Amino acid sequence: MSANRPAAVVILAAGEGTRMKSATPKVLHEICGRSLLGHVTTASRALAPERLVVVVGHQREQVAAHLAEIDAAALTAVQHERNGTGHAVRMGLERLTEDGGALSGTILVTCGDTPLLTGDTLRGLAGAHEREGNAVTVLSAEVPDATGYGRIVRDGSPGARGGMQGAVTAIVEHKDASEAQRAIREINSGVFAFDAALLADALGKVRTDNSQGEEYLTDVLGILRAAGHRVGAYTAADHREIAGINNRVQLAGARRVLNERLLEEAMLAGVTVVDPASTWLDVTVSYEPDALVHPGTQLLGRTHLGAECEVGPGSRLTDTTVGAGATVSHTVAEGAGIGAGASVGPYTYLRPGTELGPRVKAGSYVEVKNAEIGEGTKVPHLSYVGDATIGDHSNIGAASVFVNYDGVAKHRTVVGSHCRTGADNMFVAPVTIGDGAYTAAGSVITKDVPAGSLAVARGQQRNIAGWVARKRPGSAAAQAAEGSRENAGESPAGTD
Ligand code: UD1
Ligand code: CA
Repeated sequence: MSANRPAAVVILAAGEGTRMKSATPKVLHEICGRSLLGHVTTASRALAPERLVVVVGHQREQVAAHLAEIDAAALTAVQHERNGTGHAVRMGLERLTEDGGALSGTILVTCGDTPLLTGDTLRGLAGAHEREGNAVTVLSAEVPDATGYGRIVRDGSPGARGGMQGAVTAIVEHKDASEAQRAIREINSGVFAFDAALLADALGKVRTDNSQGEEYLTDVLGILRAAGHRVGAYTAADHREIAGINNRVQLAGARRVLNERLLEEAMLAGVTVVDPASTWLDVTVSYEPDALVHPGTQLLGRTHLGAECEVGPGSRLTDTTVGAGATVSHTVAEGAGIGAGASVGPYTYLRPGTELGPRVKAGSYVEVKNAEIGEGTKVPHLSYVGDATIGDHSNIGAASVFVNYDGVAKHRTVVGSHCRTGADNMFVAPVTIGDGAYTAAGSVITKDVPAGSLAVARGQQRNIAGWVARKRPGSAAAQAAEGSRENAGESPAGTD
């Protein structure tokens, strides 16, 4: 299967994509964390072509800007008017020869809207093309429904499974096909390998006398064959790979197929996926064996699952590292690091800059942002920890808030190791709690607490005896209070 390095890959992406009904160019729509165009450039780069050129037209500034981000070495060629696939390739070749050089070797042509096509299939196509010494090799596929596609016409009799036998003679567009040709289910994927010099020559001979008045790239096949060159087809093993995206139904379908592939890879690498139907992965996710993923989980961006961690149910992790043996449930995390053996959730929000050390607990209704929390420290309930550094083995009481924002700037709170802060504390930053210090429940901590001190920062409690009987006479509360005094044998006056 090993093919030579292609001289170039030309990716067609000038079309309008009107059926997407979107302000975003079609090839910039994403599946599994990568744009459609990104999937195609990635597959193309697997063959290490000497050059890669993307033909842009509709919304070309946006497409070119995106391309510069994802593949800085790629070239763009502009097709100002949409005169057909043959014309688009011609624009690509002009770009490749604008320095005056002549083209030689193999040129692959593919489309920006076929994200499921793999590098392996492209390599297979290029390999077959070179082995057979073809002038052109079309990537074909047998599809259940060929409506709309160009049909592969062969010189033999109709064969099994809707294909024809014999040598390829031409590709006929659906709109230009006869009744008999429309019965053919072997179709043109729109992906080709060409001999560069012959392609350039043949494109000059393509005419526009067809139903769409366009320069059809597919006509190059007939032209080369008529000139006595070898023309071949390489059939994709899985026809789903060549599916082009035209609308959002197909976009969702392609996402499902790609996600299945990614999940299969993960499972074969030792990840347990409890419910593949409700688990979604980006192409950039990585994992170690014996990670376990519960239903309803999205793993996005550069998320990494450590060995024997447990994620989900109901979680969305983006660019988040989960340490070995950690558990994360019902959590939304973005740009967070979760230490080995840590416990996160249920119902926890970890925002960028969160670094949880080993065996940290971030419990229910806890939000953490831009904070380092040391080994074994617990933030068990109902708290906001923003812009903080907390040492090891401390316990943050329930319902605490790290008050990091004074309306103008953000400030940091530092809590030492082995601290015990009371429930319902406000840490008004900037403030530092020394190692081993305690704080009383309900404290508003505005001043530093030295190591080993107990800070109490709250109003003194006052009990005003008999207040209910005086101010709410006859109420249910007053009657209840009266009853309780009688039971305790107290005098009605009460004491405090
Ligand atoms: C094309 C093929 C058809 C094949 C099908 C596979 C031709 C004439 N027909 O048909 O045999 O079965 O793809 O999906 O080639 N594009 C440009 N500039 C243009 C025209 C098209 O860049 O002027 C790009 C489009 O953005 C798209 C690709 O070329 O990425 C294919 O064009 P499209 O209009 O979708 O071709 P089809 O009619 O589907
Ligand atoms: Ca198409």
